[in-house]
Amino acid sequence: MRTSNKNNLTIAVDGYSSCGKSTFAKEIARKLNYKYIDSGAMYRAITLLCSKKNIISGEKINIKALELLLADTDIDFRFTETRNRHETFLNGKNVEDEIRTAGVSDYVSQVSEIGQVREKMVLIQRRYGKEGGIVMDGRDIGTVVFPDADLKIFMTANPEIRAERRYKELKGKGIDTDFEAVKKNIEKRDHIDSSRKISPLKKAADAIVLDNSNMTVPEQMEWFEELLIKLNYEN
Ligand code: DC
Repeated sequence: MRTSNKNNLTIAVDGYSSCGKSTFAKEIARKLNYKYIDSGAMYRAITLLCSKKNIISGEKINIKALELLLADTDIDFRFTETRNRHETFLNGKNVEDEIRTAGVSDYVSQVSEIGQVREKMVLIQRRYGKEGGIVMDGRDIGTVVFPDADLKIFMTANPEIRAERRYKELKGKGIDTDFEAVKKNIEKRDHIDSSRKISPLKKAADAIVLDNSNMTVPEQMEWFEELLIKLNYEN
């Protein structure tokens, strides 16, 4: 039996694109009063930088230029009062909205395949996790970033439902988009993320699966609270 108490757990939430990982992980962090880190936002920020600096052209990425850029790049999360939430900052500039655009979604999986990018991101992510009391969501959190996490959750949901959720989310943000394009992007990212050589998306052997296809957020939180009790983390 583990001895961690619920004040300083490290919780890894991994899973497919648009499964509701960040909504669920944020709710957990709020409930436990933990830090929440969206590791996908970090890969998105690097992708945005690559496209701004013309390091991506078509399917090609200029690795040498990327290496130079990475050495000089910092990503962090800061609280934005006007929006009452933590947002992603790239080299001191708020890029929260820009990193969610289709232009970034289209290339983020390719950029995330690159070893040098992953190395740098994992370093930053581990720095955030030093003290525990953290929920981080992504693709390799339970397998690579925090292989000793106290709790690992692997999320999945029916692909059609995921595409619908993502489509509604984008529409809700006023982003003009097409359902088929959203679905295709999700399928493509799932494929690249799961089949890449370095740190592919896969369920850690000790992760607990949450299929939320037919679950509301409150239902997912009920599931989580029961899990804490079952694992003896409730105190
Ligand atoms: O969570 P998201 O959909 O915003 O993530 C965007 C992309 O970033 C995802 O398609 C793959 C990559 N990613 C990754 O490779 N490893 C992570 N830990 C998180 C995200």
